[in-house]
Amino acid sequence: MRNDTHTLTSHDYVSDEIYALERERIFHRGWFLACRADRLGRGNRTVVDVVGESVLITRDLDGALHAFANVCRHRGARLCDARSDSGQGSLMCPYHAWTYALDGRLIATPHLDDDDIDKSTLPLWPYSLAEWEGFVFVSVAKEPPPFDAWMREHCADLLRLERFGFGGLQVAATTECEIATNWKIVVENYQECLHCTRVHPELVDLVPAYRSGWVYDHDRSDGGVSLSRGNSFASVPVHLPLLPGVEGIDASSYFGGTIFPNAFIDVTGTSVILSTLFPKGPGHTTMTMEFLFAPATIAAPGFDPTPIVEFNELVSAQDNMVCERVQLGVGSKAFDHGVLSPKDDLVVAFVRHYLAARGE
Ligand code: FES
Ligand SMILES: [Fe+2]
Repeated sequence: MRNDTHTLTSHDYVSDEIYALERERIFHRGWFLACRADRLGRGNRTVVDVVGESVLITRDLDGALHAFANVCRHRGARLCDARSDSGQGSLMCPYHAWTYALDGRLIATPHLDDDDIDKSTLPLWPYSLAEWEGFVFVSVAKEPPPFDAWMREHCADLLRLERFGFGGLQVAATTECEIATNWKIVVENYQECLHCTRVHPELVDLVPAYRSGWVYDHDRSDGGVSLSRGNSFASVPVHLPLLPGVEGIDASSYFGGTIFPNAFIDVTGTSVILSTLFPKGPGHTTMTMEFLFAPATIAAPGFDPTPIVEFNELVSAQDNMVCERVQLGVGSKAFDHGVLSPKDDLVVAFVRHYLAARGE
């Protein structure tokens, strides 16, 4: 077996300097998956931490989505608190009550006369926003790369799975966890299954192909693997209708894909799980998991996503535990780099993609 293919170095996983470089060259230069669009009803807002830059996302009363710096134009106070998803159709700064419409216009400045300041010149600072099939991407770059070309370069997996009709799905459950590890270790762990037999006994029961150590099935050309329990992605059989338009082998398969740099997606014939990483430092990552289903499935009497949520939380907790061990190990003085084997081919691809995006 060749062992001349190296992992990233200790420095890449633990240093503040590399983290700052990633923030500037990757997270703040391209597009960043922020949330699902259906999280925001008309008049609502949410706050997303784009690697240290707080971004406010709103849906105005006409239904249009907007992204802004989460900063008041008066004296620079943070406008909205993190993760507050509701709203009254306007945004009032907690400091001196300057108030903004959801499209960013400054509409009220208490105690000031109309000729004290010109409100029309002080809207919230806008950031770029793009929506694709219900996924909301934001960019805090002054000049973001063209979105479609960026998608082709960084989200090939997602584009290949477009037939699952993500735009028509809705989030029925959301979970969040804190992981004491570098975001790249979470992505790399997602890209290989050499750990699956050891770490995920329940998962390999559901996806027997994973016993081979590969993340895909070489007898198939579509990147999918077969589920042992028909279309159920849970430890107990869950009888859900297929997603609209899903047919043939897609109905009983599982597909995984990454959304560079900060997300991955698990797709089955009946449900989709979106895992989004929010790096908080070289050794700390917050991850949200959103569980998507067809609206008719969610509305049907007796719908209960609990078995699917619980199963995926179990697998995720198993992954987080080993990712945290890796963070502890790569911080050792002895660790210069690890080695990658042929079955780590997707990890190798990620490392190359990451280094290219970082500009090396
Ligand atoms: S800083 Fe926001 S109203 Fe003064
Ligand atoms: Fe895993």
